[in-house]
Amino acid sequence: MIGFRWILLFLCIFGNPLVHAKKGAPYEKYGSSKSAIYACNLYISSVGIFCEPSTDYYATYACICQNDNARATFAGCLNVKNQITKDVVDDINKMGATYNLSCTVQDYKDSLQNYTKYAKLPSEIENYNISVPVNVPIKLNDSTTALYFRAYDQFLGNYDNSLYYGLALTEYFALVFVLAIIANWSKVLFPKIVGKFTGPISNTYRKYISLPAFIRRKKTQEQVFFKVFDFLVPSRLESLILFGFLALTIAVSGANIKYIENDPVFATKGQAIARYIADRTGITATLNMPLLILFAGRNNFLQWLTRWDFATFICYHRWVARVIFLLVVVHASCFTHLYLLRGYYAAEMKETFLVWGTIATVAGGIIMVQGMLFLRRAWYEIFLLVHIIMAALFIGGAWIHVEELGYVWIVYSVVAVWCFDRAVRVGRLFWFGFPKSEVILLADETLKVIVPKPKYWKSVPGGHAFIHFLRPSCFWQSHPFTFTDSKVRGDNIVLYCKVKGGVTHGLYQYLSTHPGKTTKIRVALEGPYGEATPAKSYDTANFVAGGNGIPGIYSEVVDLARRSRENSKQHLKLTWIVREYKSLYWFYEELIALKDTKIETTIYVTKPNLFNCIEEFNYRLPIITNEPRSSDAEINEIKDEERKELGLEFKTTDIKYNEEKKHFGSSDDESEDQADLQIRVVNQIKAELSHIQFKEGRPDMEELVKQEVEESNGSVAFVTCGHPVMVDDLRYSVVQNLDNPDGKRLDFFEQLQVWA
Ligand SMILES: Cc1cc2nc3c(=O)[nH]c(=O)nc-3n(C[C@H](O)[C@H](O)[C@H](O)COP(=O)(O)OP(=O)(O)OC[C@H]3O[C@@H](n4cnc5c(N)ncnc54)[C@H](O)[C@@H]3O)c2cc1C
Ligand SMILES: NC(=O)c1ccc[n+]([C@@H]2O[C@H](COP(=O)([O-])OP(=O)(O)OC[C@H]3O[C@@H](n4cnc5c(N)ncnc54)[C@H](OP(=O)(O)O)[C@@H]3O)[C@@H](O)[C@H]2O)c1
Ligand SMILES: *[C@@H]1O[C@H](CO)[C@@H](O)[C@H](O)[C@H]1NC(C)=O
Ligand SMILES: *[C@@H]1O[C@H](CO)[C@@H](O)[C@H](O)[C@H]1NC(C)=O
Ligand SMILES: *[C@@H]1O[C@H](CO)[C@@H](O)[C@H](O)[C@H]1NC(C)=O
Ligand SMILES: *[C@@H]1O[C@H](CO)[C@@H](O)[C@H](O)[C@H]1NC(C)=O
Repeated sequence: MIGFRWILLFLCIFGNPLVHAKKGAPYEKYGSSKSAIYACNLYISSVGIFCEPSTDYYATYACICQNDNARATFAGCLNVKNQITKDVVDDINKMGATYNLSCTVQDYKDSLQNYTKYAKLPSEIENYNISVPVNVPIKLNDSTTALYFRAYDQFLGNYDNSLYYGLALTEYFALVFVLAIIANWSKVLFPKIVGKFTGPISNTYRKYISLPAFIRRKKTQEQVFFKVFDFLVPSRLESLILFGFLALTIAVSGANIKYIENDPVFATKGQAIARYIADRTGITATLNMPLLILFAGRNNFLQWLTRWDFATFICYHRWVARVIFLLVVVHASCFTHLYLLRGYYAAEMKETFLVWGTIATVAGGIIMVQGMLFLRRAWYEIFLLVHIIMAALFIGGAWIHVEELGYVWIVYSVVAVWCFDRAVRVGRLFWFGFPKSEVILLADETLKVIVPKPKYWKSVPGGHAFIHFLRPSCFWQSHPFTFTDSKVRGDNIVLYCKVKGGVTHGLYQYLSTHPGKTTKIRVALEGPYGEATPAKSYDTANFVAGGNGIPGIYSEVVDLARRSRENSKQHLKLTWIVREYKSLYWFYEELIALKDTKIETTIYVTKPNLFNCIEEFNYRLPIITNEPRSSDAEINEIKDEERKELGLEFKTTDIKYNEEKKHFGSSDDESEDQADLQIRVVNQIKAELSHIQFKEGRPDMEELVKQEVEESNGSVAFVTCGHPVMVDDLRYSVVQNLDNPDGKRLDFFEQLQVWA
């Protein structure tokens, strides 16, 4: 069932076939046949009538089929462009809907004989009066007929063309995706071949197009612009892709739009062009909507196909949204202009479809403002709520607006995409269950969340999940966090959440009041999302994490180490940059577990002289009991047992201190004790983590890359997550070193995702 829906959706998005399929597809192409009928109808009604005027819309077509003179005149008109065809005759019969018309091509051909025999010019008809039915065929001017044909081919043909142009925009993205699939999957499937691409052409391409930030460094870091107008700049490749999209949109909005001299359908050239552009932009905007919504979903199959992450798709989502909004504004402005000119603006605006079109446009405008980076950062949850409501209004408005125009099937697919994502999200939540999880506040900066997971739920190295803390104040919020498998308890995953200003701060305050700063909270977890990088096929894989970026990086490198145990040639390196020694506490058990692996770990402590929370050192090893961390002695006892379990052979010199000593520096005596304590703590850390190299100070990314390239005996992959500036610096340095003298293949994989 689901498979079928995806196939249908895929066809809507990428294939033209639905356009040709008349059955089941509410949009019917006008084609040359309807164009001919409308053209003849308008021309003939401007010279005379054959049946008594009627208010019934279908009567017009009944008259053509049923009245000999009307049919003859129509045949004369159609014949000018050889349009006495089965298509046209069937269409006329159909357009007479309630009259059960059954004229045949032969009938029209017979009538044509009468037209040539009996038709008269209006001037030749006695007592000719344009609003009184005549009883002879009316002779038409062939060059005027041809003009009407041309006018309608342009006017109605524009609807058909617009559909193709709209699909061309989607197909542009389809082409981009195909190239991305080839480029990104080949790194996974044919690493040997990809590794050979180190020549000048591939290096130039990678150096100037596929790898760098748009200008210099800023990709994950925002471009500052008076704070309120801060914005994210897409990478250079993303920018090029978007530039192509923009250029194509502009081209497509004007393509094949031309004025037919003396056009009888429109009063002026301006009106004709305005109408063509209005129709064009409205249709292309609608056709872009399925992709717009698909890009925004967490369960977007394109993420899996292209190996692009959610943040990349959100970047495209933003730009496609902007383009759609611009198209909608042009569409609305052109129609407003036409309605005002003809003086029926007020009347038209009362029509339901226009009321909803207006609502959708306004909702779109609100989104353009409320989606700004500044607002996303400052009030993410409010941003999200308003965004969802406005997006629903936009889609709902579009639905009603196009319902009778034949485009509603596009909106159906938009709704299907959105509902599908939501359904999968709910499914994932229930699939995981709602376990009670232990939440511990560590080092005053990080929440450690230990979540029991069901056996069938496989965690993904480098993956992340969205967590709901089921407390009354925040259960509706879902926040993304990377996870690692627990080192101590199997079938548990651990999330490390840096305390920031929203939910995490709420939990921080909540836990601060708890004895031992730990408690159990029921959570809901949606995942896993994301995937590991192709680092496994490089001779050296460097994993660089900053601060709380470590969990995903860690789980990936550990997974690699386990799987490449036999591959003695591969070097695995882990670099972790943290501010203070206390940051090690919350990741201590994982650091200890690195002991028996082939991973060469280096930790940089950038502010080694900061010693907040030193007293929490005793909490560096896991608390297995659910009892609160009431007394230090008790904890140290537990620790000793665990220490053995974890394979720490040496006996620790217990660090004993009492409560009063927590406040440093009040007297010389105390500060001396404090300094003593600090040295002892650092020494003990270094002793317990003797398999890790410690460095103090901030690493220079340029040097780090240069050194790694030198040391490697082949290709090098850098995988990183951490502070945006750090990630951008590393990307920049990798780009600068692509054409290293030894011709080693370098790759950069970013696991940091910034969408807010
Ligand atoms: C894929 C991914 C993995 C992540 N993994 C980790 C991790 O392992 N450890 C860690 O400490 N942090 C991680 N983060 C960051 C983490 O999601 C945010 O710090 C957290 O959502 C902030 O919650 P808050 O309500 O306390 O933040 P606020 O103080 O309200 O906001 C802080 C910042 O986080 C952004 N933010 C808030 N809510 C969301 C949300 N639902 N989705 C995306 N961004 C949001 C805001 O725009 C703002 O820039 C990850 C982010 C992403 C995108
Ligand atoms: N997939 C994801 O998207 C994902 C996953 C996990 C975490 N995160 C988010 O990523 C962020 C992690 O950062 P954090 O806040 O924990 O980090 P942080 O504390 O701000 O920084 C960590 C360390 O990185 C150093 N550093 C910063 N810029 C550097 C540079 N250009 N070169 C070298 N070192 C640099 C800092 O040194 P100084 O002390 O000298 O500044 C500091 O020691 C968090 O906001 C977290 O929420 C995202
Ligand atoms: C058309 O046919 C239907 C059913 O065959 C009949 O009910 C209806 O009255 C007919 N309409 C006309 C205008 O003859
Ligand atoms: C052609 O005209 C003649 C004479 O008016 C009429 O009897 C005949 O039915 C017409 N034929 C057609 C096909 O309209
Ligand atoms: C044409 O016919 C209409 C309606 O039958 C009548 O009102 C009008 O006066 C006529 N015009 C001329 C010029 O006879
Ligand atoms: C047909 O119309 C054109 C312009 O509208 C005119 O120049 C031409 O003379 C007309 N032809 C006939 C046969 O009346």
